Amino acid sequence: MSEALAGLKVEIAAIQADADAAAEGVARLADLPTTRARFLGRKGAITALMQWLGRLPADAKPLAGAEINALKAQVETLFDSAQARLDAAALEAALSARRVDPTLPGRVVARGATHPIQAVLDDLVDLLGRLGFELTEGPEVESEQYNFDLLNMPASHPARDMQDTFYLDGGLLLRTQTSPVQVRTMQRQAPPVRIIAPGKVFRCDADTTHSPVFHQIEGLWIDKDVTMADLKGVLTAFLRALYGDSREVRFRPSFFPFTEPSVEVDVWTGSRWMEVLGAGMVHPQVLRNVGYDPNEVQGFAFGLGVDRLAMIRYGMTDIRYLWENDQRFTRQFRGGLR
Ligand code: DAH
Repeated sequence: MSEALAGLKVEIAAIQADADAAAEGVARLADLPTTRARFLGRKGAITALMQWLGRLPADAKPLAGAEINALKAQVETLFDSAQARLDAAALEAALSARRVDPTLPGRVVARGATHPIQAVLDDLVDLLGRLGFELTEGPEVESEQYNFDLLNMPASHPARDMQDTFYLDGGLLLRTQTSPVQVRTMQRQAPPVRIIAPGKVFRCDADTTHSPVFHQIEGLWIDKDVTMADLKGVLTAFLRALYGDSREVRFRPSFFPFTEPSVEVDVWTGSRWMEVLGAGMVHPQVLRNVGYDPNEVQGFAFGLGVDRLAMIRYGMTDIRYLWENDQRFTRQFRGGLR
């Protein structure tokens, strides 16, 4: 073996050892290309070995070339596995930084429930819709005119004292009843009229059975030949649909300024009569106030308290539960307790 070939072999062994240590020593993926280039790059140690070839006798060249190629292949494998090792480490680091633990249970999203008042309201509107009443609405901030005067309750009228009103500036107030929607609807459209108007009403009053905010549904049916018999028939059908066919219903004479005659309607609960709505034939003065001719058209109106119906349906003793939004209470209605 020539001296030059022996020198080449020593050099190859040295590069091999150097490359081993270097590939193993790379700690960061970003450092790998430079380290690799120190051996395999255009100015790298292995490329430099090619200069030995020139110094060798012709017959030694094939062997020397083969040795250099073998070294090159080995060092390439070394750096390929270093690359694989660092790739795996980087992936591992990324995964543990996100701390995904697929064995943990999923997050529970709290599920809401329809509020009992809304549930009752939805049922009532649905039922009255099937009896032919069209849904409408009116404003919660009203004028004295609409809330009282046009409903045949002038300022001097003692019935105004029956309702503790929240007054606002400029002759405005929070409506104490949904009845003003009757007036607004009749002013807007010619008869026949057959509407219901659900919504919030406000009175300055609060105890276990009175809330300063509560809900009513107003009903109104005006046409050429709507009579007291229709009032009885429609309201009885409504209450029977609500409480069952065998439920006893009673009509009691009463007084409201905007109806004449007026009635209050009670339902037998099994132990006592319970008042559920007020109603009556719309007062001729109210019809005149909206430009209707009471000799041409007439009809009936009714107003019912939604919160009371909800309390009765769910057996509640204190109306304030409906407003506190205590989840121990509201959660019980999840999935529609009916
Ligand atoms: N507005 C009345 C109240 O709040 C309820 C009522 C009674 C409405 C008789 C009516 C009716 O339409 O005819 O006490």
